[in-house]
Amino acid sequence: MIKADLRSDTVTKPTQGMLQAMMAAKVGDDVFGEDPTVNELEKKVAALFNKEAAMFTSSGVMANQIAIKVHTQPGDEVICDKLSHIYHYEGGGIAFNSGASVRLLNGDNGRFTADQVKANFNDPSNVHFPLSRMVSVENTCNKGGGSLWDFSELKKIREVCNEYKLQYHLDGARLFNALAETKESAADYGKLFDSISICLSKGLGAPVGSVLTGSQTFIDKARRIRKVMGGAMRQAGFLAAAGIYALDHHREELIKDHQKARTLGKVLEGQSYVKEVKPVRTNIVIFSLTEKYDENSFLEKLSEYGITAVPFGPSTIRFVTHLDFSDEMLEYTIDILKKL
Ligand SMILES: Cc1ncc(COP(=O)(O)O)c(C=O)c1O
Repeated sequence: MIKADLRSDTVTKPTQGMLQAMMAAKVGDDVFGEDPTVNELEKKVAALFNKEAAMFTSSGVMANQIAIKVHTQPGDEVICDKLSHIYHYEGGGIAFNSGASVRLLNGDNGRFTADQVKANFNDPSNVHFPLSRMVSVENTCNKGGGSLWDFSELKKIREVCNEYKLQYHLDGARLFNALAETKESAADYGKLFDSISICLSKGLGAPVGSVLTGSQTFIDKARRIRKVMGGAMRQAGFLAAAGIYALDHHREELIKDHQKARTLGKVLEGQSYVKEVKPVRTNIVIFSLTEKYDENSFLEKLSEYGITAVPFGPSTIRFVTHLDFSDEMLEYTIDILKKL
């Protein structure tokens, strides 16, 4: 039986080419700054975004949480969308690591407007309110169904950040998915944001790793925090080599994941057990079910056919396409979806 894993784009295994690159990596002790491959990855990402510096982290959560810690002091407020990964899926890390408060905006599938940021900025002269310190954007937005931001709105938010002296962070775990669909470049994003986190271990297919990029001063502070979090690694070049390989070889592949997701979305729209499919813009398909199934019974039924996915709320399912979800798996999944 064919098996198809649609739980997440994090389930991919390294390809032969990637494994070879990892095996051939030159390594050293990165805590001494001596791992040439980690240094190469950090330089590469900083150059891509036209930033002064970058730092390898073990995960996307770590990269985001370090950024928030650098940008805030306890009691400050982080402005983000109500669907944000930093709020929902980072274990309460904003409170745990930074002691910061959160202002959730009611956006459209994870995207908010500059006017919403303005309206939610706290008057710093009023001692009742937490000090608004930073804005965090997620592109693409996971819980928003892989939604894409309009770059002109991101620019307007930058202007609001300038006006109110707010730091501007991008959770770009899936930014390369966004870049594959839009005309902007990584450098365009680098120009806009004070800090950007990217994940190598999602659509790009590396086994481990994220990179945080920003100014030299920001990354110097970030390195201290990574150390305190126990996130400074030694011969991490073996992992960084996978990241370099992923950036060089897998960015063009992302568009294929998007095509597959769109196909799945279309098939789902035609099924009687599907109530609604969120617009499919990248590699994530979120859909809700009619009374025929709830999320658990639907997933159980799918698993009988070797297809796995995750529940994403009441009667709601998420599919994520990725490098290891082949054309054959797509055809098979379509057949099964049509006969459920
Ligand atoms: C938007 C977003 N940000 C950050 C992360 C965290 O990445 P990691 O699982 O590597 O910590 C994820 C993981 O799914 C994510 O979807």
